[in-house]
Amino acid sequence: MTAARTVLVTGASGGIGRGVCEALAEEARLTGHSLRLAVHGSRESMALSALVSDLTSADGEGEIEARAFVADLTDAGACNNLIGQVIDWAGRLDSIVSNAGQSRPGKLANLPDEDWQATLDLNLRATWLLARAAYPALTETRGTITAVASMSGLSPHPGYGAYSTAKAGLVMLCRQLAQEWAGDGIRVNAVCPGMIRTPLTETVYQDEDTRRKRESLVPLGRIGTPRDIGDAVAFLTSDKASYITGVALRIDGGLSEGMLNLIPGRPDKVR
Ligand SMILES: NC(=O)c1ccc[n+]([C@@H]2O[C@H](COP(=O)([O-])OP(=O)(O)OC[C@H]3O[C@@H](n4cnc5c(N)ncnc54)[C@H](OP(=O)(O)O)[C@@H]3O)[C@@H](O)[C@H]2O)c1
Repeated sequence: MTAARTVLVTGASGGIGRGVCEALAEEARLTGHSLRLAVHGSRESMALSALVSDLTSADGEGEIEARAFVADLTDAGACNNLIGQVIDWAGRLDSIVSNAGQSRPGKLANLPDEDWQATLDLNLRATWLLARAAYPALTETRGTITAVASMSGLSPHPGYGAYSTAKAGLVMLCRQLAQEWAGDGIRVNAVCPGMIRTPLTETVYQDEDTRRKRESLVPLGRIGTPRDIGDAVAFLTSDKASYITGVALRIDGGLSEGMLNLIPGRPDKVR
């Protein structure tokens, strides 16, 4: 019997992290592969323990095992320890989905040092520290890293200067690692979500008017869901993507390519 594929998903207690776990679990069930999911949050929470129990009970055959891990990823030591704990549990590590992230909005002209540092530590440095600590294990499994960046990492996002800078750095970190580790058989990719409805953004979408205005900006006409991101991450993590490394995949319903739709007075305007 082959050993269970082991995937660490950081920020699994949140919206997109949960969507990633559900997509990975569904893929394992459909393909008949066993899976160990290390689901991470910054702290113990109802969301994290509910996820572990949902993933386990959805699996009739007992082929999916999930365990919660807690670590503040702005702490460098905690990033290193997390990798050690996951390998102690599972005996191997095949994939990291580096999804934990948070923004601290503020104009750069008066952003406090602490907000800048915390934003870069979580959204950029943590992925590098996790990747570095996991390198020997990922070399053994010829594994993957998939980081959740943002369309804010591809275009400047006024009012989110530290976040946008960190996500742009994250995209480059993935491209860089993809080149440095391709010879070891390790694939590294990023996904760049657009507007996704999750606990992070829920207050915005509770306002109907704002939701409708946002939807009207998206060529595909809707706000994204955590599963939209989860399904793409599950693909990039799987062997079906075995020839893909170093990409930054936009998952935004066409939003970031749609700028010219915003020009008033176009004769052929479709939206
Ligand atoms: N929602 C969007 O529209 C959108 C768009 C583009 C990109 N993204 C990116 O997608 C990722 C997930 O976002 P989301 O919308 O799902 O957010 P979310 O629901 O707020 O989840 C954020 C996750 O990050 C974890 N986290 C926060 N601070 C942490 C810390 N210091 N150390 C370790 N973990 C920490 C949280 O853990 P706890 O719950 O335990 O604190 C939670 O699991 C983020 O990287 C975000 O930047 C989101």
